[in-house]
Amino acid sequence: VHEDLATTLERRLAQRQPVYDAFEAVDTTGRSVDEVVRDVAARSGLAEVGCLAFERRRESDIIFGRGILGDLGGAMAARGLRGQIMLVSDRGAREAGWAEQALRSLATAELQFVHVPIEGGEGDKALATVERVYRAGADRQLDRSAVIVGLGGGALCDLAGFVAATYLRGIELVLVPTTLLAQVDAAIGGKVGVDLLGFKNAVGAFYPARIVVIDPETLSSVPPALLSDGLAEVVKIAFVRSGALLDRLESLPRREAILAGPDIIRAAGEEKIRLVRIDPYERGERALLNFGHTVGHAIESGSGFRLSHGQAIAIGMVAETWLAECEGWCPSGTLDRLMAILQRLELPVSTAGDPDRIAPLMDQDKKRRDGRIRFAIPADIGCGVVVEVSAEQARAAVGHVAVGNQA
Ligand SMILES: NC(=O)c1ccc[n+]([C@@H]2O[C@H](COP(=O)([O-])OP(=O)(O)OC[C@H]3O[C@@H](n4cnc5c(N)ncnc54)[C@H](O)[C@@H]3O)[C@@H](O)[C@H]2O)c1
Repeated sequence: VHEDLATTLERRLAQRQPVYDAFEAVDTTGRSVDEVVRDVAARSGLAEVGCLAFERRRESDIIFGRGILGDLGGAMAARGLRGQIMLVSDRGAREAGWAEQALRSLATAELQFVHVPIEGGEGDKALATVERVYRAGADRQLDRSAVIVGLGGGALCDLAGFVAATYLRGIELVLVPTTLLAQVDAAIGGKVGVDLLGFKNAVGAFYPARIVVIDPETLSSVPPALLSDGLAEVVKIAFVRSGALLDRLESLPRREAILAGPDIIRAAGEEKIRLVRIDPYERGERALLNFGHTVGHAIESGSGFRLSHGQAIAIGMVAETWLAECEGWCPSGTLDRLMAILQRLELPVSTAGDPDRIAPLMDQDKKRRDGRIRFAIPADIGCGVVVEVSAEQARAAVGHVAVGNQA
C-alpha cells in the first residue's frame, strides 16, 4: 500500500511540476516575517515608496455662555483667526438681530469682514447655495487665510461648514448656532454637508469648526414649535446617554422654561461632546444619536415634510422604544416615561399615515448602512445600544405609531 501511495505522489508531483515552476518561490526558512514581506513586496513590484502621516484637523473649542455672542470677535482674535471673515447668516438669525450683534463684535475686535445673507433653512442646504457662497468668497478674493463664520440654525451651520471644508480645499470655520437643535447637536462634532436629489446630507465631510460659540440668549427669538424640535433632540440624548439629563428635563415646568437657565442646553451639549470624543467619525457609539431617526426619517419624508424633523424624531423614538419594550430589550415603563416627557414638551407621539407606505422608506437608511436596518435604542434610561432589526420588526414599529392612511 505504501509503495503505491509513494508512486502515486511522485507521478502527481511530476505532472504538476511545470505549474509549480511557473510561480516564483520565496524561501522562508529561518527568516523573519518582516524580511519575507519586504522580499515579496519587492518581487511583486508593490514596494512602498513612502509613507505619509496625515494629521486630521486639530481641536474644536466649544464655548458656551449667556451673552458671549457679544465677544465673538474677541474669541476669534484670541485664537489667531484674524484673516478676512465671511459671515453667512440665515434670515431668522438676522431678523432677530443676532447677525448685527455678531458683526458689531467683529468690528470692535478690528477684524475685516463681509456679510453674506442667505435665506437659510433646509431649502438652502443645497449645492446651488454652496456655489453662491463660493462666488461671494471669490468676488471678495478670499484666500486661504479667510474664515467662514456660520450664524443660524442647523441647516445654515451644515451649509457654512461644507463651504469652509471645500473652498480652496478648506479654510477656517467658526459656528454660531442660534436654534436649540443647532446648539445641542448640529454645530458640535464636525459633520457638515448639504442635501442632494432629495437625499438629506448626501454630500458632506467631517470638518469640525475651530470655534463653536453657543449663546443661549439667541434662543429668545426662537418660535415655540422650533424650540420643541430642538427639545426632541435633547430628549434623544437624555434617553441614550444621561438619566440625570432626563430628570432635569422632567423638572421643567413647561417647554419655554428651557430658556431660563442654560443648564439643560449645556448638559445636552456636553453629552454630545463626550460621544464625539469617543467616536469622532461615527464608527461606533456616535450612532446612538440615531435613536428615533431610522423610523423618524421615514415618517418625516412620508409626511411630505409636513411634520418637522423634531416631530418626526419624537414619533420615531416612540416607535423604536415600543419595539424595544416588546422584545424585552429595555425595561417596561421606558415607553411610558418617553411618551410623558414628549407630550409635556408638546411633541407628537403618533401620526396619521399608512405603515405600508412609510416602512419601505426606511430602505434609504438601510442602503446607507450595509443593507441592515439598525435601531439605536435605550437599553435602559441613559444607556443606549444599537440593535439590528428585521424588516418585519421595523414594519411593526412603524405600525405602532402610524395610524390611518391619510399622510
Ligand atoms: N451636522 C449635524 O451633526 C446635524 C445634527 C442634527 C441636525 N442637523 C441638521 O440641522 C438642520 C435643522 O436645524 P434647525 O432645527 O436649526 O432648523 P433650520 O436650520 O432649518 O432653522 C429653522 C429656521 O429657524 C430660523 N432661525 C435660526 N435662528 C433663529 C433664531 N435665533 N430665532 C428665530 N429663528 C431662527 C432659520 O432662519 C430657519 O428659518 C437639518 O438640516 C439637520 O440635518 C445636523
